[in-house]
Amino acid sequence: MSAKIIDGVAISKEIREGIKKEVQELKEKHGITPGLVTILVGENPASVSYVTAKQKTAHELGFYSIQENLPESVPEDELLKMIEKYNNDPKIHGILVQLPLPKHIDENKVIYAIDPRKDVDGFHPVNVGKMVIGLPCFLPCTPYGILVLLDKSGAKVDGAEVVVIGRSNIVGKPVAILLFQKRKPVGNATVTICHTATKDMAFHTKRADILIVAAGKPKVVTADMVKPGVVVIDVGVNRIGTTPEGKAKLCGDVDFDSVKEVASAITPVPGGVGPMTITMLMKNTLESAKMWAGLPSEVG
Ligand code: GUN
Repeated sequence: MSAKIIDGVAISKEIREGIKKEVQELKEKHGITPGLVTILVGENPASVSYVTAKQKTAHELGFYSIQENLPESVPEDELLKMIEKYNNDPKIHGILVQLPLPKHIDENKVIYAIDPRKDVDGFHPVNVGKMVIGLPCFLPCTPYGILVLLDKSGAKVDGAEVVVIGRSNIVGKPVAILLFQKRKPVGNATVTICHTATKDMAFHTKRADILIVAAGKPKVVTADMVKPGVVVIDVGVNRIGTTPEGKAKLCGDVDFDSVKEVASAITPVPGGVGPMTITMLMKNTLESAKMWAGLPSEVG
């Protein structure tokens, strides 16, 4: 048996078309254009490529968007001042500082400096707190994208055994919290989180009806570690070389070729979770613009 491929590109396309229409309506009926600023510090190739893709999508959907590039050596207070400027800019509804940041900059201080009402990444403690207690807020984009992928793929999440590999603030921790909550249409699962101190990873992964892998290491999940029929969401983006055309060669945290023969559904890398992260960033920015305009919005 070969698994159904959960196509993040196709699902993203459908959602982006809806966002584009709403953006046009917002402009025509209310004179509002959703505004997003993405701030990149340094030239980490993965970060450059993510930010470029975010800007390209924002442009395609009709957003007002600004890209700020700061040198690797930028002092922390200069970055904080830039955030403050955009906190006070009424044309901007979403501020994203691409992570990771250079070591001399305190990531938490930067996240804290962003107005929680413009925190379209959902990383500010105010939004994290709201998410944990189930209040409307900006959901972090990758977990949000995973919820949509599970929903659109028809996976049965209610009552399922979900195993998450990875406990980062960006993916593992929030996706686990969202999936055990009594929320619709995706939630109410029994969730286990595995991490670097987990004694027997395969013991847990073999029990999973849904396996979410955000380990940050290539191909750590192999066919012998999963139950037949499992739904696999692979969050990994590992650069394992360069194509003859000079593009980065990518693979996930899951050994796709072997696991797809055992799973019932699986996300590919690239083309699974990646495009969804960007799509949900656009969704959050659109909802933010509506909230700032006093219109009904999903973020409060
Ligand atoms: N680095 C890796 N993923 C993300 C993300 O979703 N947002 C930001 N700001 N940085 C990231």
